[in-house]
Amino acid sequence: MRAAYVERLGPASEIRYGELPDPRCGPGEVAVRVAAAAVDGVDTFVRSGAYATPVPLPLVLGRDLVGKTVESDTWVWTNSLGHDGRQGASAELACVPADRLYPLPEGVDPLEAVAVLHPAATAYTGLVHHARLRPGETLFVEGGNGAVGRCLIRLAAGLGARVIASARGAAKAETCRAFGAHTVIDSTSADPRAALAALAELAPDGVDVYCDTTGRTPPGQAVPTLAVRGRVLVMAGLGGDPAPLDAGPLYVHDRSIIGFVISLATTEELAEAAEWINAELTAGLRLGTRVMNLERAREAHEAVESGTRDGRRLILRVSRAVR
Ligand SMILES: NC(=O)c1ccc[n+]([C@@H]2O[C@H](COP(=O)([O-])OP(=O)(O)OC[C@H]3O[C@@H](n4cnc5c(N)ncnc54)[C@H](OP(=O)(O)O)[C@@H]3O)[C@@H](O)[C@H]2O)c1
Repeated sequence: MRAAYVERLGPASEIRYGELPDPRCGPGEVAVRVAAAAVDGVDTFVRSGAYATPVPLPLVLGRDLVGKTVESDTWVWTNSLGHDGRQGASAELACVPADRLYPLPEGVDPLEAVAVLHPAATAYTGLVHHARLRPGETLFVEGGNGAVGRCLIRLAAGLGARVIASARGAAKAETCRAFGAHTVIDSTSADPRAALAALAELAPDGVDVYCDTTGRTPPGQAVPTLAVRGRVLVMAGLGGDPAPLDAGPLYVHDRSIIGFVISLATTEELAEAAEWINAELTAGLRLGTRVMNLERAREAHEAVESGTRDGRRLILRVSRAVR
């Protein structure tokens, strides 16, 4: 089969495109003929070794795919490959654990769908399983226009929360509103404290959940923007500068800082997220794509790492049959 893979972890220049033996699926696995795979930031962290996880070598890259089962030609998707010992998604064939495989709703474009899986599942598990956002609470999303940011906004608004987002400029603020944000703060300033000050003015009693998808605000700096029992949900900032944490503002208001990574979500949590994702795909959730053929995997990784993907999700087309 044709695959995008690495023989050892390292920079994007390690990515090879070529023939690998077809995988042999074990018990409990389903063989899938891959139509498309996404390239997520986390795929670059796994490839480089920045996110340590057991992987086979050579490693087929990528965790999200949409494709058809070999046995029954049924459209399916997964967002669980390429880490924790499992081979990846960027190949013509993949073996997917049956309990991490979900049906693709009828009529949904596979290229559009694969773009949604990782950010949407991240938003779901972060807000529902970790921050435990409740109806009537207030969520602040820093970087609301990003892929995870838009999913956080849509999910929180759907759950009946009040959503404040930040975005750089009027057009991106409008996108946040279209996804369900009630109020948008401008975050064009290079100093993240400007957005924190604007938030404090807007929500003087504090927000219940604060989530920075940009990874630029040290979690401790966000603590004073929280209400009593508020939670800072930390999901980005790998490799950022260490920053001190002021204990007083955290504990005297019952506040907490919660980190999470979707790689550690349980199969039950992922299955619950998948139900929400499928409902949203059916309802029209789309994030925008830039589609490249599988042989350009290296270029796709470089674009993710250099931040040059114009706000679009990078998708590798594996089967020429999908347009
Ligand atoms: N913990 C987990 O399990 C998990 C899962 C998925 C993703 N992540 C991480 O979450 C982060 C977001 O992922 P994503 O897919 O949503 O990325 P994305 O689509 O690139 O969105 C990033 C957002 O951050 C904003 N931003 C970046 N730098 C900024 C700055 N200096 N000032 C203001 N805004 C800035 C961007 O604004 P513009 O739109 O103006 O560029 C954009 O809205 C990444 O770090 C990713 O690795 C973590």
